[in-house]
Amino acid sequence: MKIGTLDLGCQPLFLAPMDEITDPSFRSLCKHFGADMMYTEFVSSDGLVHNAASTFSKLKIYDHERPIGIQLYGHQIDAMVAATHIAAALHPDVIDINFGCPMKKIANRGAGSGMMREPQKMVEMTRQIVAAAASIPVTAKTRLGWDDDSKNIETIAEQLQDVGIAALTIHGRTRAQMYKGTADWTLIAAVKNNPRMHIPIIGNGDVHSPEDAKTMFDRYGVDGIMIGRSSIGRPWIFEHTKTYLQTGELLPSPNVQERVAVAQLHLQKSLEYKQGMHSIYEMRRHFCNYFKHLDNFKPTRLRLLTAETPDAIKEILNEIAVVWG
Ligand SMILES: Cc1cc2nc3c(=O)[nH]c(=O)nc-3n(C[C@H](O)[C@H](O)[C@H](O)COP(=O)(O)O)c2cc1C
Repeated sequence: MKIGTLDLGCQPLFLAPMDEITDPSFRSLCKHFGADMMYTEFVSSDGLVHNAASTFSKLKIYDHERPIGIQLYGHQIDAMVAATHIAAALHPDVIDINFGCPMKKIANRGAGSGMMREPQKMVEMTRQIVAAAASIPVTAKTRLGWDDDSKNIETIAEQLQDVGIAALTIHGRTRAQMYKGTADWTLIAAVKNNPRMHIPIIGNGDVHSPEDAKTMFDRYGVDGIMIGRSSIGRPWIFEHTKTYLQTGELLPSPNVQERVAVAQLHLQKSLEYKQGMHSIYEMRRHFCNYFKHLDNFKPTRLRLLTAETPDAIKEILNEIAVVWG
């Protein structure tokens, strides 16, 4: 599958953009395990326009991460266009527009999935972003619509394609569903099978295993699959899925020592990319996901979550390998 001239090969796997999760350290792990394409966390166009340092820090991308997209969100066309110019100057492989975020403070202001209630503005915003991005392909990530009574993705997909997006990712839920229920891929397939659509369609929602990924490719015919929550604490899902798609072999779940090694690598990357306590705070979101399945883990989890130095964390991780290994 291709996004513009960017060739991602056959049945590519995408790491979903996830705020406060898909920072450079987590991305480097997912890349290590074979993710074909990744995105930054969503970046606020207002934050960029107002020069907020915390927003700018999310724009940081590295050459070894390529292909990588910068994802932008906002409700004002002018700010999104200005943000596109700022992002384009960093030469990402793709600029992605977030039309899927369901969070109240974002969607109710008309950004993220809130845009799906204003299709005309959504299309005009996209048209202007495509023009501002010049030679950088622009992609979009949406949901099925705002709620059950307004699932407008089929029309919107055509309109976004008509104003020049190079690929579309669809999360198979409405905004009203937030993350509840199960993702409905039938409408994703309807978009993919619409003879008017020619851009690649990336399906997203509830891919939790290599078998899920294969089912989604086979049953719904999507060009690529995006994996979000199931990569947290399991970045090897990309390697396992690729192997399964290519050979039919299901790789065994990593044992405790292997999980500890990945968590240590994650910590090391986090220390490389973030300063001091930031890297430790960042890692607190991830640690427990590596060891969710362990019995009697609670006291150790508490120690992991309160350890204040990298050395203390490394020591606890080594202890996990010994005690549960
Ligand atoms: C913690 C978290 C943060 C997220 N942040 C973003 C984001 O910044 N941009 C975005 O487009 N989607 C975001 N999402 C949605 C995911 O990209 C994805 O669409 C959703 O989780 C469904 O995929 P999954 O079932 O594979 O997790 C986020 C989801 C989670 C759980």
